[in-house]
Amino acid sequence: MPSYAVIGSSRGIGLEYVRQLAANPSNIVFALVRDKSKATQLIDIAEASKNVHVVQGDVVDAASLKAAADEVAKITGGSLDILIYSAARTMNETFFHTFFEYNSFEELDADFIQAFKVNVLGVIHTINTFLPLLRKGSAKKIVVLGAGAGNPDFAWKSRFAVMAAYSSTKGASAVVAAKYAVLLEEEGFTVVSLSPGLVNTADMSTVPPEILTRQTEAMLKMAKFNPDVKYVEQSPEESVSKQLKIIEAVGQNDAGGLLSHRGLDLVAGGKGGRGLDLSVYV
Ligand SMILES: NC(=O)c1ccc[n+]([C@@H]2O[C@H](COP(=O)([O-])OP(=O)(O)OC[C@H]3O[C@@H](n4cnc5c(N)ncnc54)[C@H](OP(=O)(O)O)[C@@H]3O)[C@@H](O)[C@H]2O)c1
Repeated sequence: MPSYAVIGSSRGIGLEYVRQLAANPSNIVFALVRDKSKATQLIDIAEASKNVHVVQGDVVDAASLKAAADEVAKITGGSLDILIYSAARTMNETFFHTFFEYNSFEELDADFIQAFKVNVLGVIHTINTFLPLLRKGSAKKIVVLGAGAGNPDFAWKSRFAVMAAYSSTKGASAVVAAKYAVLLEEEGFTVVSLSPGLVNTADMSTVPPEILTRQTEAMLKMAKFNPDVKYVEQSPEESVSKQLKIIEAVGQNDAGGLLSHRGLDLVAGGKGGRGLDLSVYV
């Protein structure tokens, strides 16, 4: 009975992970959310599925993470097979800001620190807290949802100067995943970042028009510089079903890479991925 913890599962991709994993009765799924009372769609899934446990867990709160891990351990007898970290600070009023659009030094710092706490430190604290359980699990897989936006090559090719805080922190989270891959390699763990592609998770009815305009401008610029790339937003269903195939297939050869939902052969970096010639940086 493989056990999964999906971190940040109240909505979006995390919620869809829970929905798809719950459909297989041989899975046991722990859906971590920072506020159970607001996770109404998740509660509906849990009420309809015997194998889903909704667990309160805020990735920026040490005590809450510890309590969540204890709750999971009580049910599984102390183990966990696969951890999927989907939590992130995403679409907010400053999401499309470049470095130039903050009103003050302090405003920029506050925004970056908030994003860093969820998108980077949250990954570290969550892995550290759940590691004793994962060590007792049999799959030993840790998947951190990554983003092309966190890859310097992507920033340049897409000409994306926008999403400054989000992209900077997603870049840092890819490095964090790679470092865990190194730390845990000899224990048989596979730790990867996995990009889900473009997924329509935002509730557009609540996104302010100026944010939509910024998004459209950024996409048009990306298309101008990359006319052959097709930009099609996927549904969470489509992306997660592809991601689950990747998670099933992923192994130590992929450890540390920033993988794509489109296929394991598209690994950027990682143990067996397209190699970096280290000598260029030393
Ligand atoms: N959607 C895309 O096109 C896309 C593209 C590339 C990468 N990604 C990555 O895929 C992942 C999921 O993205 P998404 O589009 O599903 O995002 P989303 O719809 O904004 O969902 C983010 C989730 O993170 C949770 N969260 C935020 N802060 C938290 C905290 N302190 N503790 C626990 N949970 C917290 C949110 O919970 P609340 O409801 O409590 O806020 C929500 O469930 C992210 O890592 C994102 O960077 C997404």
